[in-house]
Amino acid sequence: MTTHPSQSWYILGAGAVGGLWAHAMQTWDLEVTILTRSEEQHLSLQAQGLRLTQGNDTHTSHPKSLFPGLGLDSIQNLLVCTKTYATVAAIKTWRKLLHPQANIVLLQNGMGTAQSLQAELPQANIYCATTTDGAWRQGPWQVVQAGQGGTQIGAFSPHLNLRTAPNIIANLINQSQQQAGSLKVQWHEDIVTPMWHKLAINSVINALTAIYKVTNGALIEHPQGRPRLEQLCQETENVMSRCHITPIPHGLLQQALRVLKQTADNKSSMLQDCLAGQPSELDAINGFIIQQGAILHLPCAAHKQVCSDLREQYPTA
Ligand SMILES: NC(=O)c1ccc[n+]([C@@H]2O[C@H](COP(=O)([O-])OP(=O)(O)OC[C@H]3O[C@@H](n4cnc5c(N)ncnc54)[C@H](OP(=O)(O)O)[C@@H]3O)[C@@H](O)[C@H]2O)c1
Repeated sequence: MTTHPSQSWYILGAGAVGGLWAHAMQTWDLEVTILTRSEEQHLSLQAQGLRLTQGNDTHTSHPKSLFPGLGLDSIQNLLVCTKTYATVAAIKTWRKLLHPQANIVLLQNGMGTAQSLQAELPQANIYCATTTDGAWRQGPWQVVQAGQGGTQIGAFSPHLNLRTAPNIIANLINQSQQQAGSLKVQWHEDIVTPMWHKLAINSVINALTAIYKVTNGALIEHPQGRPRLEQLCQETENVMSRCHITPIPHGLLQQALRVLKQTADNKSSMLQDCLAGQPSELDAINGFIIQQGAILHLPCAAHKQVCSDLREQYPTA
């Protein structure tokens, strides 16, 4: 059966989160094509398939894939799960095949990428998504689901209707609700609020755990880290308040401490990226707070210090 291009999904960034979604979309009987970085990646995916481990079960699927320069497809629905710093360049690689009014869902942490992308692709229908699902990569095309949460999607582009999901996204939501054990997806009329709330938590935790090389739980009583955590909370809340973002219930500090306790043994993704000598999402997290602060004449000194300390220790961050 050939699916009409308007119903097919393409996934850019089939790492941990993208792999989870590629698997889920296939179980929802959607046609999925993974956009790989290179021909080599395309060939390895076609040879070994995509492996997802959920608890004691491991499933292997065989999604289609394309590499840049291959294919005449018209990409009308694109799910992007690259890290923030790689996103705009990665999407530009596919510009020739991308329909000018493509539906693009950005599923990532941090903020600022959607604005940059809209400037590049003014007619694109951009949606943002934020997730509490967890996953990690065991190896190439091997993903382990770490925790089950949920994903909220909402409209970003100013020309879109905030209230209702378009059919193509409503279909994802319906499918996710019909299948037990599947990813859970919901529409959110004001996606900026949950995105800001997640950004706020990440902005006060992630960089500090990387600077002090500690697991999340160890930050709570860390003699230098804890006072800095409190300063960061104040600065982030000031920026949020001046941006008219709905405050986090019980305050950012209480929420951050709750997350640190719940994930006490976890190493933040920023700590893992820094230790591996990889770039981090610092610019889309703390950098975004600093940028918003600058527009509002708020100095955000603690955030600036965190960025400079992190980059001094890890030049690739
Ligand atoms: N993992 C989680 O549990 C989790 C939870 C919530 C939110 N998030 C957020 O979700 C986003 C994705 O995180 P992740 O953990 O899934 O990252 P990841 O495992 O590093 O996956 C990113 C993927 O993007 C691919 N990529 C980068 N540039 C590309 C290009 N030009 N063409 C094709 N593919 C490209 C990478 O390919 P290569 O392998 O070739 O580098 C990699 O497979 C981040 O913003 C993260 O903060 C993650």
